[in-house]
Amino acid sequence: MPPPHFADPTGPARPLHIVAQDHFDSWCAAQPEELQAWIGAQDFTGGLGQAVLVPGADGTPAGAVVGYGTAQSRARGRFHLAAAAGKLPKGAYKIASGLPDDLAEVEALGWLLASYRFDRYRDQTPMAAQLVAPDSINANAIAAIAAGEVLTRDLINTPASDMGPDDLETAARDLAAQHDAGISVIHGEDLLARNFPLIHTVGRAANRAPRLIDLRWGEAGPRITLVGKGVCFDTGGLNLKPGSSMGLMKKDMGGAAAVLGLAHMIMASGLTAQLRVLIPAVENAVAGNAFRPGDILTSRKGLTVEINNTDAEGRLVLADALALAQEETPDFIVSMATLTGAARVAVGPDLAPYFCDDGAFVQQLETAARDQADPVWRMPFHTPYEAMIEPGIADLDNAPKGGFAGSITAALFLRRFVDQTAYAHFDIYGWQPNDAPGRPKGGVGQATRALLAAFTQMSTT
Ligand code: BES
Ligand code: MN
Ligand code: ZN
Repeated sequence: MPPPHFADPTGPARPLHIVAQDHFDSWCAAQPEELQAWIGAQDFTGGLGQAVLVPGADGTPAGAVVGYGTAQSRARGRFHLAAAAGKLPKGAYKIASGLPDDLAEVEALGWLLASYRFDRYRDQTPMAAQLVAPDSINANAIAAIAAGEVLTRDLINTPASDMGPDDLETAARDLAAQHDAGISVIHGEDLLARNFPLIHTVGRAANRAPRLIDLRWGEAGPRITLVGKGVCFDTGGLNLKPGSSMGLMKKDMGGAAAVLGLAHMIMASGLTAQLRVLIPAVENAVAGNAFRPGDILTSRKGLTVEINNTDAEGRLVLADALALAQEETPDFIVSMATLTGAARVAVGPDLAPYFCDDGAFVQQLETAARDQADPVWRMPFHTPYEAMIEPGIADLDNAPKGGFAGSITAALFLRRFVDQTAYAHFDIYGWQPNDAPGRPKGGVGQATRALLAAFTQMSTT
């Protein structure tokens, strides 16, 4: 869908009053008697998601009131205006009272994100109500964040039939063109097999050829390299996934979608940074030339990898991309990937588990995550588990037996291809399983807004 936007600030707009449940009685008592009666007749108590129109003298709405719940009910979600916003009738609304200043940006963003619709294959009813950006916020910055998130969601939601490695390349090229970024794509069997053997090996069984997308933007500031897992569909390969596990695997390019969305946020907000985005784009398919369990492959970095499960393909394609990223020792490297089922089991779909040994960055990220309502959860690069990824007859094992600490062993595998502590790896889910305010069921970005805020800090200090 086109990027969501705020209502025209010069046009007519209804005043919107935000009333917390704990302030409802005192707020109500201060209203004209007719309005008290009107509101009393509609079970409005200031609860989250509640919305009522205020009637005007001529019968048209003079404004609206939405509930803001209690501290406890707000703690159960992220975007509190978004739930009520979807219930308001067509028109523009300008917040007139009740919005805490420090939450204005997040709430305005939530409103924009609530208007997301995946309408590529079927028309969807657009959200009727539009928000006039509150005066206190940077409307362009918030709109840029919303646009980045929309890009991420659209890319994930688009099924593999229309989102193969070639389509992912097109999406990256479109983004590069939009921001005047440089882009090159490494493809072709010989070139890939020679320089990125793991990417080639994972992708070679598919009809749609594997490739490595390499985007660059920005001339000054910290050198930040984002690496995103672009597995456009993950059948599991010869270690075929059962149907129930394969069903959602169009989202296995969620890491790529997230880093492209984040790249949009960085470029659109004009961050002072030298950005590089690397996406190994492949399809993990089944065919006679597919890679096999037991195969031993030599990676770009020279480390040999024994394949003990062709379904542990993400770490393979990321390994070669990370090795390339490391070759120019950037100031910071981030990888994002729908890498393991174990991460889901550990923290569920809401939290973005991440691994990072850079203490200063961890602090910035944790603060940013809280401010941006974009929760992350730190996991350990637990060095004693290194032995688990060493199979004996090769340097590395892509799928340690037993499955203990699956998300950690995957992260340790990736860390073997990075030689700097200025590195963070995110094992994201990329999917919202049920509708929530601002986050309709479907593809979703995770940790991108927190990272944007952390990078903004990095580029200004
Ligand atoms: N893409 C999957 C991981 C995944 C599954 C993410 C479900 C989100 C939801 C990945 O390629 C995979 O299959 N990982 C295996 C690794 C195992 C074979 C070591 C897993 O997690 O089961
Ligand atoms: Mn897999
Ligand atoms: Zn996968």
